[in-house]
Amino acid sequence: MRDLVAETQLDVRHLVAPLFVREGIDEPQPIASLPGVVQHTRASLREEVRQLADLGVRAVMLFGVPTIKDSIGSGAFDPEGIVQLSLQDLAADVGDRMVLMADLCVDEYTDHGHCGVLDGPAGDPHTSVDNDATLEIYGRIAVAQAQAGAHVVAPSGMMDGQVGAIRAALDSAGHANTAILAYSAKYASGLYGPFRDAVDCAIVGGGDRKAYQQDWRNGAREALLEVQADLDQGADMVMVKPALAYLDIIAAVRAAVTVPLAAYHVSGEYAMLKAAAANGWIDHDVVAIEHLTAIKRAGADIVLTYLARWFAEAHA
Ligand code: PBG
Repeated sequence: MRDLVAETQLDVRHLVAPLFVREGIDEPQPIASLPGVVQHTRASLREEVRQLADLGVRAVMLFGVPTIKDSIGSGAFDPEGIVQLSLQDLAADVGDRMVLMADLCVDEYTDHGHCGVLDGPAGDPHTSVDNDATLEIYGRIAVAQAQAGAHVVAPSGMMDGQVGAIRAALDSAGHANTAILAYSAKYASGLYGPFRDAVDCAIVGGGDRKAYQQDWRNGAREALLEVQADLDQGADMVMVKPALAYLDIIAAVRAAVTVPLAAYHVSGEYAMLKAAAANGWIDHDVVAIEHLTAIKRAGADIVLTYLARWFAEAHA
């Protein structure tokens, strides 16, 4: 009876697996703060994505870890960059049965760790991210990712005007069919800590991203402005991130827009679950399902989660 009348369904077809691929390694590298998640080699990524496809997962979100970082993050748009090479691999292997998404940002690729290029010396308190100079770089990344086989590019840097700049760059390079999943309402959260281990990213000078990511004291008023700006600029899907502490934002965005809505169950949310479960303090499987269901119940159509493989295996 409970199944018959349940209001919310959790289905593997609505999960996206975030995956890390690192340049210049021969063996997958574990990530201490993300138990069960690794930095993949090109080869192990191919194998993982084939297995995910066989398990019924329909989409992956790729993040790259380059060997060389520089001030503008050129590894992010280099046609030989690790994500571009991996997208080519995956497009050949599973491109007809898997949605290939690529995170579009430079923080994994810059030597200063910010999501954009800087207007002064790194670490100097008077230095800011140069929003408009960053847009030009984002356009180049989008074209490189689309060229390599990405079906969806997902700008996560929270620069103003990024969706419009990326749409224009894609269209003028002949990639009108490449979709944009905008990280629209993305908060300056402490819950991204393990992710920064996963991509070897630290902000030089100990700064933060509060100048471009949202303040968690702000609710739907600001979030809906951000979402609407992205839709006006051509976003096909929008995202709220993180998920569990922002269920009110997910619900408000769901009520306000008709496009598909994604929510990102981020690294810190996953790490808290794993740590408490490892201590025997909570039941991993019960809480994992409870959390993912809550995100869907709040209104997300799509959930990005490091639990995607676990869920697919548990429900195969
Ligand atoms: C930025 C990006 C971040 C995450 C996804 N894209 C880090 C950040 O904004 O600081 C975090 C994802 C997670 O914590 O799982 N490229």
